[in-house]
Amino acid sequence: MITERRSKRTRIDRFISAHLEINRRDVKLMLAQKRIAINGIAINDSQQVIDEFSHVTLDGQVLQANKPKYLMMNKPAGVVSATKDEQHRTVIDLLDKATGSDLHIVGRLDLNSSGLLLLTNDSRWSRKIMAPENKVEKRYRVTLEKPLSDAYISAFYEGMYFAYEDITTKPAKLEIVSDYVADVSLTEGRYHQIKRMFGRFRNPVLALHRLSIGPLLLDPRLAVGESRELQSEEVSLVG
Ligand code: URA
Repeated sequence: MITERRSKRTRIDRFISAHLEINRRDVKLMLAQKRIAINGIAINDSQQVIDEFSHVTLDGQVLQANKPKYLMMNKPAGVVSATKDEQHRTVIDLLDKATGSDLHIVGRLDLNSSGLLLLTNDSRWSRKIMAPENKVEKRYRVTLEKPLSDAYISAFYEGMYFAYEDITTKPAKLEIVSDYVADVSLTEGRYHQIKRMFGRFRNPVLALHRLSIGPLLLDPRLAVGESRELQSEEVSLVG
């Protein structure tokens, strides 16, 4: 499920006009007087496009100075992957206010799922990770109620037809770790996909924990509920 927001690319005249609640003719004048600067350079082109991370000033006063943020969290079960929820605590509630205020979630985990969750305010980055054509692999450790058999491996690989969406799931890798535990790798994220796939075998999922997204692994030093910023190499690994 895609939860990231649209990229906030916009023309500078639209941005200034909305931000200061003035009309575009006045913005044009400001531009002509070289009072507006983007990333330190005075500009006079009203059609120049900025994004959410462009540094924008008017007469040297900062109007926008967002910094991209990238976090990984060890999501606990029982906490919702959403920015707001009436009933449950959200993953944003686990962060301090200043950190969490402008973040969105890159690929939800179900309420009772745990493990690697990415959060960012960079919508271009999150879109890259979630774009189906990029086939970023997500790996999950799954604990089942009943024992596994080799029949699961081929069924997951061949794909399963979901009538509700009228789709057949893409080849998924299933590795048996022990009688009741499997590692499953998906390159897509259909609604409750793993639970529904095991549902075909009438085998309920008892626990589902995301281990990795692409080459990015959940940091084993993160306690349940903890998060940390990604290093720049980690950001470029997946985005
Ligand atoms: N599949 C599920 O059923 N739940 C998740 O949280 C992720 C994948």
